[in-house]
Amino acid sequence: MAATENPVEKLLSLKGEVASIPFPTDEKELDALRVKYLGKKGIVSLISQDMRSVPADQKPEAGRLLLEIRTAVENLVETSGAEIKRNRIRLEIENEFFDVTLPGTAPRFGAAHPISAVMDEIVDIFSGMGFQVEEGPEAESDLYNFEKLNFPPDHPARDMQDTFHLLGVDKILRTHTSPVQIRAMEKYGAPLAVIAPGKVYRCDADVTHSPMFHQIEGFVIDKKITMGDMKGTLQTFIHRLYGKDTKVRFRPSFFPFVEPGAEMDVSCVICGAKGCRVCKNSGWLEILGAGMIHPNVLSASGIDPNAWGGFAFGLGIERIAMLKYGVDDIRLFFENDMRFLRQF
Ligand code: FA5
Repeated sequence: MAATENPVEKLLSLKGEVASIPFPTDEKELDALRVKYLGKKGIVSLISQDMRSVPADQKPEAGRLLLEIRTAVENLVETSGAEIKRNRIRLEIENEFFDVTLPGTAPRFGAAHPISAVMDEIVDIFSGMGFQVEEGPEAESDLYNFEKLNFPPDHPARDMQDTFHLLGVDKILRTHTSPVQIRAMEKYGAPLAVIAPGKVYRCDADVTHSPMFHQIEGFVIDKKITMGDMKGTLQTFIHRLYGKDTKVRFRPSFFPFVEPGAEMDVSCVICGAKGCRVCKNSGWLEILGAGMIHPNVLSASGIDPNAWGGFAFGLGIERIAMLKYGVDDIRLFFENDMRFLRQF
């Protein structure tokens, strides 16, 4: 306050100014008001610092006026601040209002992919029969995928057309889950009952063949194991999977790692064995390969074929899922089309 001005008059005029300040209507205006009068360099603060220069006889009056002005501004800031806050909350509530009586949107639940669901079901069935679950690598060596499984060096399955070879490493993508037989036998010895689910790869693609598909390998090693044990185990499995009315039959077949070898058909679960497009009117569908483990395979895994015997089987999960759900093109499983997947 300049010494030449009358401090009391100046404060009286400021009091009038403060009394006529319009009520701030939003936070921005309120802030500007607070800074203008009460801020560090605000009017009220500057006058307070200047009080020393007020003549002694005017000091009590000037001090009283300054206090009144400060209180008036503080009251204005407080009441308008509360009002602005109330308005903001009221607006927020109005904008956020929702009708609790409106029917809700039901959340869409995810589900296991049909291949995973079938795989889990099969693993559950065999686990219930006492099989332990093992896994093996998808990038496999020729030794485990072919050689130790008794494949002759010139066997057609080793052909470049069937097998994916990995560039730069001495590995292939396993063409079946049978190498897990060898790995598990080497790891645990005998007796043993194992299932090994997993992905396998073949250079193959049409409505019933996919370059990547899933298999479950199963095998049992024990003393005095016969084909009767194999047939009983597989029949029990099929009854649990497709129901007790499903019939099974075994046909002779050849796989280098079993002797004798067989393929198992089930009575067509789609048409009830009456004959349909899926079973090509035969009433039967082939779902797995099986057989008694070849003595060479036992020897290659460090198990004495004179003391132990075993049976093994390998089934294609996609084939089983196609039958279970009546799907006639294997590629549908891998296209990730939600219209297809939502049906399961
Ligand atoms: C084998 O892979 C043997 N390792 C099975 C086996 C295990 C026999 C143990 C004896 C003892 P195979 O090549 O037939 O066999 O294949 C088994 C199943 O995989 C077939 O029945 C079929 O369901 C499925 N499969 C074969 N190729 C494909 C493919 N490209 N796409 C989808 N599924 C396939």
